[in-house]
Amino acid sequence: MKHLLSINDLDVQSALSVMNLALEMQQVNAREVKKLPALNGRTVANLFFEDSTRTRFSFELAAKRLSADVVNFSAKGSSVSKGESLKDTVQTIEAMGVEALIVRHHHSGAAKTIANSDWSKSIVINAGDGTHEHPTQALLDALTIRQRLKGKADSGDLAGLRVLIVGDILHSRVARSNCLLLRLLGASVGLCGPATLIPNDALKLADSVYFNLDEALADNFDVVMMLRMQRERMNSAFIPSETEYATLWGLTESRFNSLSNDTLIMHPGPMNRGLEISSTAADSAQSAILEQVTNGVAVRMAVLYKLLAKESSLS
Ligand code: NCD
Repeated sequence: MKHLLSINDLDVQSALSVMNLALEMQQVNAREVKKLPALNGRTVANLFFEDSTRTRFSFELAAKRLSADVVNFSAKGSSVSKGESLKDTVQTIEAMGVEALIVRHHHSGAAKTIANSDWSKSIVINAGDGTHEHPTQALLDALTIRQRLKGKADSGDLAGLRVLIVGDILHSRVARSNCLLLRLLGASVGLCGPATLIPNDALKLADSVYFNLDEALADNFDVVMMLRMQRERMNSAFIPSETEYATLWGLTESRFNSLSNDTLIMHPGPMNRGLEISSTAADSAQSAILEQVTNGVAVRMAVLYKLLAKESSLS
């Protein structure tokens, strides 16, 4: 397989193989000299048409730790503001010798459009397309869950684990990719949020759906993953007010205190403290939020290695 556009590009074996290679990349990242020669002389471009902190940094660090050359493009400050099309932007970058594109775009399907076109030869990695998918986020989340809940050395799947994803599911590419991957790996997934922010096909995506957070939390999930309200992807008013949202849907201090001590708390970031998650929950020992970020570099090194290194492949 040439590209990583969706979790549907993976089967159990290839997903586990990325996660297990990421374990080896973690060893590299724990060393003083965090560098492998694998992609020496290769050129990767971060093509970001949307804002990002962790995903862009993480892909950049991952590529650099494999010794690739990395160039960063962000739509703000580029010729996109002068009307340049996606095709012309990609062709311009490729004409300079770039061979892999890490694409974040506000349109669902943008990465696939590039990958399937006859005007691009690049290897394409989807770093978030609209409300569709964010496959490397799901892989880093699965790795984090496995390490925290199934033991550091475990290299198997997530069979038997139960994960609750809470909040703005409708606009979340993280939720979509996580539902696909977690269930592929044998976990079961519950979705929870206001009816306006739950997609119509929720019961195809997940095993259960809740419209009341306290009822969902009472079901003792192993993992509670909180999501941001993705206002930049909303086209109308989906909630009455932020205060009401925080009260009904936030992982407040008292809700957090009612959870069992081994419930893992996750959030893909960026967080809105006091809205969907309280600082008590985010900064607790049960929170894996910074581990998710750390694991993001290792997972992206594994994906880049599998897609770009000679004699390696995703499947
Ligand atoms: C997410 C994204 O951009 O989809 N962030 C991330 O990549 N870690 C989630 C979000 O924007 O809320």
